[in-house]
This record gives sequence, structure tokens and C-alpha cells, in this order.
Amino acid sequence: MIEIVKQEIRKKIESIYDTDQVIVEEPKRGFADLAIPLFSLAKIWKMSPQKVYEKISEDVKVDHVSHIEFMNGFLNIYLERKKLSLGILSNIFEKQEHYGDQLLEQEETVVMDYSSPNIAKSFGVGHLRSTMIGNSINLIHKKLGYKTVAVNHLGDWGTQFGKMIVAYQKWGNESDLVKAPIQEMQRLYVKFHDEEKTDDTLEQQARDVFKKLEDNDETYTKLWEWFKEESLKEFMEMYDLLNVSFDSFAGESFYNDKMDAAVKLLEEKNLLKVDDGATIVDLGEDMPPALIKRTDGATLYITRDLAAILYRHQTYHAQKILYVVGNEQQLHFKQLKKVTDLMGYNFDLEHINFGLVLIDGKKMSTRGGKFKRLEDVIKQAIELAKDAITSKNPNLKNQEEVAKAVAIGAIIYNDLKNERHLDVDFNLENMLKFEGQTGPYLQYSGVRIESMVKDYDIDLSIVDENVFEQDHYFEIVMLLAQFPNILHRAKEQYAPSVISKYIMGLAQAFNSFYGKERIIVEDQGVFNANLLFARSIQIVINEGLRLLGIKSLKEM
Ligand code: ARG
Repeated sequence: MIEIVKQEIRKKIESIYDTDQVIVEEPKRGFADLAIPLFSLAKIWKMSPQKVYEKISEDVKVDHVSHIEFMNGFLNIYLERKKLSLGILSNIFEKQEHYGDQLLEQEETVVMDYSSPNIAKSFGVGHLRSTMIGNSINLIHKKLGYKTVAVNHLGDWGTQFGKMIVAYQKWGNESDLVKAPIQEMQRLYVKFHDEEKTDDTLEQQARDVFKKLEDNDETYTKLWEWFKEESLKEFMEMYDLLNVSFDSFAGESFYNDKMDAAVKLLEEKNLLKVDDGATIVDLGEDMPPALIKRTDGATLYITRDLAAILYRHQTYHAQKILYVVGNEQQLHFKQLKKVTDLMGYNFDLEHINFGLVLIDGKKMSTRGGKFKRLEDVIKQAIELAKDAITSKNPNLKNQEEVAKAVAIGAIIYNDLKNERHLDVDFNLENMLKFEGQTGPYLQYSGVRIESMVKDYDIDLSIVDENVFEQDHYFEIVMLLAQFPNILHRAKEQYAPSVISKYIMGLAQAFNSFYGKERIIVEDQGVFNANLLFARSIQIVINEGLRLLGIKSLKEM
């Protein structure tokens, strides 16, 4: 609602005076509710800021503006705080978790490609980033009315399966693999790369095997299916824990029978070239060519991605495809986009990249020792959370469930609290603290409000709106009013951190408010105003948490 007032003022002045130089700000605490800096208009109109103030003052007084004043080159605006606050808060209370929901006039479909781990490898902490960022961006789009298709583009095809099969046949056996499938596959994978250092025929062997796999060799196909099945079991457990779901698990192998058509299209459009026996698309000076087929005819990662794009456009009529994948694949997505451009399509493909996960400041990798299995990490986090919770609240029922929500919330918040381009430091102890910028702090803020208000029903008819005149109330009301805009910004920038920072600010504001003001008071008018106020804050914090993929709690 405050946004509407701001917009109205800006638009009105801009249209009357034919300028685009009007900024309506929300100044820092203690100043006015809104302010317009007058310097740039003064410069353009060649008059003093005071004169500008006099010239436009009547036009600023739109609905909900109570009065204005001139101060130090600014036009200060004071709002009708009571009326506005009541409007904003009762709107939130009425809509509950649907506050901020949007309907789109025209249906728009976005394909979200995220998580997409590689089969036969553990689901590492590194894959968590794509999973959580993708999940959050997906939820944000849905809230804003988009139709989304969440696709897990599983890495279930490619030369690495040649390697796996070679390694299994040389150094593996069935009983070890059945006992601890992923660990064993992981061991074989590492072994292959170790052996490769001294045996330079291994690489070629793996390629040959993969080629045969692509040609439907029965034994190899069976092995591959088995590897995939076992890997998926572990992935599904992770997704369950993390409460993440997908609309499709069409991974790379899904495109096996769809690649010929894609290659044929490239051929028809005269884009294919043979280079040293391999089939490529030349992408000009600024990037290396896209390798479409190897000398032996085997296809590549990019070939499958190309087929996937065509499929997604045909099947889902996607207006946009978002790929949530780490920085290291930047070139791949640039090439992909360039190839589709050359094909004459104007597809909107966006690579949503992100930084690394660091442990003690060092990069994690699958091959080195620094690799952590997500499952182990989560289990460890749950234990730590349980300790913290039982010491805080020994009588808590369903401790197990709460510990799980806290642990996973902590991991997710740690991942989403900063801009996604930045590296994430993975330190369980820090992320599980109940103070500071953590998931548990946010969950606890919601729980605190819950414990204050849960026994009371709000009577909107007797709310005493006079309390909202006070700065420490109205500032928070202004914050709450920003939520729809925050969602918009998070979507535009593909940035869950916009939401994570916002709800952190809100929780901090409430906690400092609560340091000065009691919620439960004698006066029924004030009491009901406080209830409405606190509930609205809780609704927005919890909905923000949900959009990050974090569970909110009633007790902890
Ligand atoms: N499986 C790949 C990896 O883990 C990510 C796949 C991303 N999605 C895509 N359509 N290329 O590196």
C-alpha cells in the first residue's frame, strides 16, 4: 500500500511536470515517512530547492498523505499512519500466507533445471547449492503466478559411465556394491582416476565402453540401470529430507532417442562442420566451437542439452529455461545459447550461477579428501540441533522432528543468506547458532511470537490504531508493506538472498521492538492492535522461510 502511495506521488509529479527525475525514498528512522530529494529538480529548473518545494507541494498531497514539510533540500512526507497501518496489517491478516501472491494476466511457463546431480556419485554438499537455490527460485515464481516445471536433469549419461563400468569390471564386485552402493561407486570412481595417472589406455577403454552403451549393449545397459537405480535411492532420501520435489526426472539419458533429431536440425540449418573427424558447430571468434559428436560418433553433454531445450519448448511451451548450475559451467551455457541463436531461435535461457562451498576456507572436491556426503552432514547437524534444543527446552514434544527442521533450516539458510555468486562457508557450528544471521534465529523468532499470541483470537473491531502513530510500530509496518516488492526483486534477480536478508531484518526489528514494548497488555484496544501487529510479522517471516525452503515451527 505504501508502494502505491510512493508510485502515485512519483507518477503524478512526473506527468504534471514532464520529468523523470522524481525519487520518492523511505528515509532512515526518525526522519519523515517518505521524502523527495529536491536537488536534481532544482538544478534542472534553475531554482532553489525551497522554490521547487513550493511549486510541487500541492501535487504531492495524494491519498494517505497527512502533511508535508521542507527540510534541508528535501520534501518530507508524513503519512496517515493509523489508517495505512490498519489497512496493511488487516490485509496481511486476512490473506495469511497468501499475502504477496500474484496472478499473471497471461500464462507464462518457466522450466527450472536444478539439482541435477550425477548418478553414481554421492550427493555432496556442493549439490546442495543448486538444489536449494533452484527450489527457492521455483517457489518464488509460483508465488508470483508463474507456471513452473521443475526438472532434475540427472547426469545419468556420458563417458563417466564408461569409466564406471570399466572400473567396476576391473576392481569391483557385486557384493560390495550391494552393501554400500554409492560409497562403492565413489571408491571405483576415485580408483579409476588414480589408475589413469599410470595407465593411459584407460581413458580410451572407457570411451569404447560408453560408445557401446550408446549402441544399447545389453550387459552394459544392465549395469548402468543398476548404478542409476541405486544412486536414485540415495538422492530421493535427500530430497525427502530437504522437502524438495520435482515435476520431472528426465535426465540426460532421456534424450538418447531425441538427439538424432536435434543433430538433423543443425544439419538442415547448415551449422555442422567436421573438424578432425568430430562434428562441431563453429561459434566464431569469442568462444571455442560446440562439440556435438566425437570422432567415434558418441554424443556429448551439450548435444543432450540441445535436445532437452527443443523438448522443453515443444512439451511445456516454456517461455524461459533457468539453469541453476555452478560457475564452472559458464562456458557451456554460453555455447548452448549461441548454438540456439545460430539456429534462429530466440530462446530465453538463463544460467543462474553460484559460488563454491568452502570448508575451512578450502574448496571441496569429489576426488580429494575434502568431500563431504550430504547425508552425513545432515545427520551430524540433526544431532547438534537436538543437543541445543534439549538444553533450551527439555520438555519439548516431538524433539526429533523439530531437530530435523532446525538442522535443515540452518543448512539452507546458511546457503541462501548471501548473494548466490559468493562462496559459502560451511561450518555447522556457526550455522546452528540461535543468534546472528542463522536459520534457527529466524525459526525462533516465529516461535517466540507464536508463544505470545497463540492463546488469543484477534478482535479486529476493537483494534486501537493510535499505537501505529509511534515510530517503532510504524517502521515495522512499512517493512511489512515492502514484502510484495521484495518478492518481485528476488524474482527479477533470481536471488533468494533478497528474501533471506529481508526476513532477517524483519525478525531483528521485531526482536528489538519486543525489547521495549509488551504485547500482552490490559487495554483491550492496544492488546488487539499488538496481536494483529505480531501475527502479521509472524505470517511474513514464516512465508519468507517457506519460500527459502525452510520449515517454520510453532515450538522449539
Ligand atoms: N549434472 C550436471 C553436474 O552436476 C549439471 C546439469 C545441469 N543441467 C543441465 N541442463 N545441463 O555438473
